[in-house]
Amino acid sequence: MVGYAFMGAAHSQAWRTVNRVFDLPARARMALICGRDAAKVADAAGRLGWDAYTTDWRELIASDDIDVVDVCTPGDSHAEIALAALAAGKHVLCEKPLANTISEARAMAAAAVTAQAAGVRSMCGFNYRRVPAVAMMRRLVADGRLGVIRHVRATYLQDWIVDPQFPLVWRLQRDRAGSGALGDIGAHIIDLTQYVTGRRITGVSAITETFVRERPLPAGSSGLAATVDGTGVTVDGLAAADANGSDGHRPATGPVTVDDAAVFVARLEGGVLATYEASRFATGRKNALRVEINGSLGTVAFDLERLNELEFYDATRPAAEQGFGRILVTEGEHPYMSAWWPPGHLIGYEHSFTHQARDFVEAVATGVDPAPSFVDGLQVQLVLDAVTRSAELGSSWTEVEPALATVAA
Ligand SMILES: NC(=O)c1ccc[n+]([C@@H]2O[C@H](COP(=O)([O-])OP(=O)(O)OC[C@H]3O[C@@H](n4cnc5c(N)ncnc54)[C@H](O)[C@@H]3O)[C@@H](O)[C@H]2O)c1
Repeated sequence: MVGYAFMGAAHSQAWRTVNRVFDLPARARMALICGRDAAKVADAAGRLGWDAYTTDWRELIASDDIDVVDVCTPGDSHAEIALAALAAGKHVLCEKPLANTISEARAMAAAAVTAQAAGVRSMCGFNYRRVPAVAMMRRLVADGRLGVIRHVRATYLQDWIVDPQFPLVWRLQRDRAGSGALGDIGAHIIDLTQYVTGRRITGVSAITETFVRERPLPAGSSGLAATVDGTGVTVDGLAAADANGSDGHRPATGPVTVDDAAVFVARLEGGVLATYEASRFATGRKNALRVEINGSLGTVAFDLERLNELEFYDATRPAAEQGFGRILVTEGEHPYMSAWWPPGHLIGYEHSFTHQARDFVEAVATGVDPAPSFVDGLQVQLVLDAVTRSAELGSSWTEVEPALATVAA
């Protein structure tokens, strides 16, 4: 694994758990973790359960007894690490968004397609696909329970940078993150809705905004590196509130080079009309992902804050009995749930990563290609790119090509 902060911890939890919960044809051994700071990565290795650590990711690539490389770094290093790993015959799990640019994502998708022929597997970490209720949502759509899909309505809202004094962490820098709310959280709802409906976004019209254009540089940080740790934000180990410095001097500031919010309308294949909103300025919304799908025979809705549930309206029921019902997605016959607890005993955020690890290990061990593939990751990247271009051109309608065609070309 490369990276040991937020996603590094979430993925480590999954690797620790996966073989204890699921009966799999192969066993994950947590061999080697990489970070740039020797003392911090040594501490992380012990805390997260890794056998050894290194400060150079190339050591993972060069190591003969490593089969899988798990990329949990910011987007600016995904392509370099993943391409080297695939070339060395390692299976690769790479966090989302797949890369920072279309050209990087295309190179990764092409390398993944080439590697497939040699039995080398790759997957992009869109973990919300692995929430049982989301997988169940897809099953309802695939089984025709919603009829003809007409609408998709998706929002992913956070509020962690509402304070203009919040420092200029890597997520607010285009060269490190690729884009802002759009690629960080918008990417999730793009992938999730394409996955659940089985339909590709074919065109978009977008607006984006950067509400706060200048922010303090993180104090005590040489490289502007910062981490979000799930409970709050730390800047190279300092609490965010300390980032202004304690000497009373105003800290230097720097420009925010990404979007704070992105809103777009879209068409999906098959005549579906969709709306998407991704924002880090939705005060009070901490990690609020909601998706609703309306079809001719019903509606299904998912809310991450109630992740064990689905709202379902079945319009085929007698008129007198119609109404929204709540499916508690904890039955053994629901996706992934038979491995966990008795019905009604709930699971949470971290389980999506365990399910991701489960599907990846099974795919590698049984010699099939896991999903979402790097080509699926490129498909999301093409939407991100179209949204950015549309917003730059006054919301002009912007088509999105099929990813596979662009890899072949
Ligand atoms: N699936 C999800 O829900 C989800 C959630 C958060 C982040 N992410 C994605 O995960 C990735 C990492 O995000 P994060 O929140 O964990 O970031 P983070 O800042 O918390 O952690 C990044 C880690 O990468 C390390 N790192 C950076 N460059 C490195 C290099 N060249 N070599 C070795 N280590 C390096 C840092 O030291 C740190 O340990 C991003 O692509 C992000 O979009 C996904």
